[in-house]
Amino acid sequence: MIGEFSLAGKRAVIVGAASGIGRATAHLFVEAGATLLLADINGDALAGLAAELGGDMATAVIDVASRSSVEALGIQAGSLGPVDIWVNLAGVVAAPAPITQVTEDVLDRLIAINLKGVFWGCAAAARIMERQGSGSIINASSAGADVPAEGISVYALTKAAVNMITRTLATEVGPSGVRVNSIAPGFIDTPMVTYRFRRPDGSIDTDARAALFASRAETAALRRIGEPRDIALTILYLASDASAFVTGQVLRPNGGSVMP
Ligand SMILES: NC(=O)c1ccc[n+]([C@@H]2O[C@H](COP(=O)([O-])OP(=O)(O)OC[C@H]3O[C@@H](n4cnc5c(N)ncnc54)[C@H](O)[C@@H]3O)[C@@H](O)[C@H]2O)c1
Repeated sequence: MIGEFSLAGKRAVIVGAASGIGRATAHLFVEAGATLLLADINGDALAGLAAELGGDMATAVIDVASRSSVEALGIQAGSLGPVDIWVNLAGVVAAPAPITQVTEDVLDRLIAINLKGVFWGCAAAARIMERQGSGSIINASSAGADVPAEGISVYALTKAAVNMITRTLATEVGPSGVRVNSIAPGFIDTPMVTYRFRRPDGSIDTDARAALFASRAETAALRRIGEPRDIALTILYLASDASAFVTGQVLRPNGGSVMP
C-alpha cells in the first residue's frame, strides 16, 4: 500500500461500527493497520464484530443520543492513548412522511441521534485532537442533504446540519492541525435501507428489494447502487494522510447519482 494511505500506527474510534458502513469501515481499517475502539448502541452486534475482527478489540456500548454517553466514550478513547481518527457513523432513518404528517417524536429522535450525536462526537474528538495537534474527524452525511426529496425532510435536515457542523469545526480546529470532513453516500446496500422492502411481519420482500435496487441503479451514472466497502474506502482516504490537505469538505461517493 502507498504509505500515505496506510493507517499503520494510527488509533481510530468508529461510532456506529456494528452494522453496514461502520462494519465495513472497521474491517478495512484493520486491513490498513489501525488499532480500533468500536462503539455502537447494539452490544450484541458489536461483540460479534469484535470476535470477527479478532485480536484485542476495544469496544464501548454507547447511545449517541445521550451527550454524557458520547463524552464517556471520549474519556475512554483518550485514556487509551492518542486518537488519530474519529468516525461518526451512527444514524437512523424514519418511515417516509410529508412534513404535514411528521410527528414531534420522529423529529426529536432523528435530531438527537443524527444531529446531536454527531455534534457531541465532534466535540469529544476535537478536544482530544486539538491537544495532540493532529487528527481526522469524519462525519456521515447523505446525498439527501443536497437534494430535496418527498418524505425525507427530517433525515435530510439532520444531514444538512452535519455538513455545517463539519465546515464550522474545520475552521475552528484547522489551525491546530485537525481535519474535519463529511461523506455523503448515495444509496448503499446496508440494513438501514431494508425498511423500504420489509413486509409488516418483518420478512424481506425480495421482489420489492430487486425493483428498488434496479430503480436506484438506473439513476446513477455508474448504473449501480453502492456497497458498504465503497464508502469505507472513501472514509479510509479521509482518515489517512493521503488527504492531508483536505478539510471542511463533503465527499460524495454516490456512483454519480447526485452531482450538486
Ligand atoms: N445506507 C445508505 O444508503 C446511506 C446513505 C447515506 C448516508 N448513510 C449514513 O451512513 C451512516 C451509516 O449508515 P448504514 O447504512 O451503515 O446504517 P446501519 O443501520 O447499517 O448502521 C447504523 C449503525 O448505527 C448504530 N446506531 C443507531 N443508533 C445509535 C445510537 N443512538 N447510538 C449509537 N449507535 C447507534 C446502529 O446500531 C448501527 O450499528 C448513517 O449515518 C446513515 O445515515 C447511509
